Amino acid sequence: MNEPALEVHMDADDLDRTLRADVIAGLTADRKWLPPKWFYDARGSELFEKITELDEYYPTRAERQILAGHAPDIARHTRARALLELGAGYSTKTRLLLDALTAQGTLETFVPMDVSPSALSEAATLISADYPALRVHNIVGDFARHLKHLPGGGDRLIAFLGGTIGNLVPEERAEFLADVRSVLEPGEHLLLGTDLVKSPRVVVPAYDDAAGVTAEFNRNVLRVINNSLAADFDPDGFAHVALWDPEREWIEMRLRARWPMRVTIPGVGLVVDFAAGEEVRTEVSAKFRREGVEEELAEAGFALDHWWTDRDGLFAVSLARAV
Ligand code: SAH
Ligand code: AVI
Repeated sequence: MNEPALEVHMDADDLDRTLRADVIAGLTADRKWLPPKWFYDARGSELFEKITELDEYYPTRAERQILAGHAPDIARHTRARALLELGAGYSTKTRLLLDALTAQGTLETFVPMDVSPSALSEAATLISADYPALRVHNIVGDFARHLKHLPGGGDRLIAFLGGTIGNLVPEERAEFLADVRSVLEPGEHLLLGTDLVKSPRVVVPAYDDAAGVTAEFNRNVLRVINNSLAADFDPDGFAHVALWDPEREWIEMRLRARWPMRVTIPGVGLVVDFAAGEEVRTEVSAKFRREGVEEELAEAGFALDHWWTDRDGLFAVSLARAV
């Protein structure tokens, strides 16, 4: 068995610097916000995994159904020798791709990139044991900053699953897709998971589940700031809010102060006041239509070769080729 390799582009110093910059920018803004990547310490990654098992959270099941049906098509179409996965987390569904690509005999290397070292290392141990001939090369990195560190080599397939692209706002998305295109050679591929526009009666419960797991996931960003910057947020003082924005066609997660609060954040020398009812935006989760995905891919220099949805039309997986 090959030992998994580890490459770290977000060491403690980098984490500290970028978290501090984000906290200062987000919590001193008129309308407070925090970037979603800070949900994912070890606890946050585990909470996300729990979300994927909830009855209300349909995206993971739907995407798994698509991959189960089409992984052999993806393998045949791409003949990938390297699978590079962005925001890989525990790479649970990715095993369907690993199975199809190893069965075909082309795959040599798997490179998961994530900001969460705990999710990466747990997954790598299991994957290395189950695919002993595969080279597993973990990258702890930010897909908005560290794509240039992805290995070259040709016949690469970049996978970005789960609908995580929806957690970027449109300008970030355009920049991200252009960056992905710039690391690929013409003829190499991108496999992209996107959640689709549907009734808010289905979407909202997926982000506001009865058991309150998503609420805990949302509040976890406050615990991360408490742990890393010695802040004194009372997470229970914030209510979880999941709102459907029909114009932008995205879900917005927010944390709403239940009462007036003064929070000290010694790690950045800030004192932040919250009025009762004041909100912090913690995540957007955009939902897509085929025309929009195709257009954004084309804008970045990709041709859409395949578009697959689950039987209920909830979620889509696109296979795009760098042109
Ligand atoms: N791909 C998995 C996990 C999705 S959850 C799935 O489909 O189920 C989103 C993942 O992206 C988390 O593991 C989180 O740690 C990671 N992530 C979020 N922002 C990131 C960023 N800026 N750079 C790299 N990884 C990021
Ligand atoms: C990772 N990402 C695609 C999830 C989503 O559905 O937007 C994160 C999440 N937020 C709340 N629940 C799940």
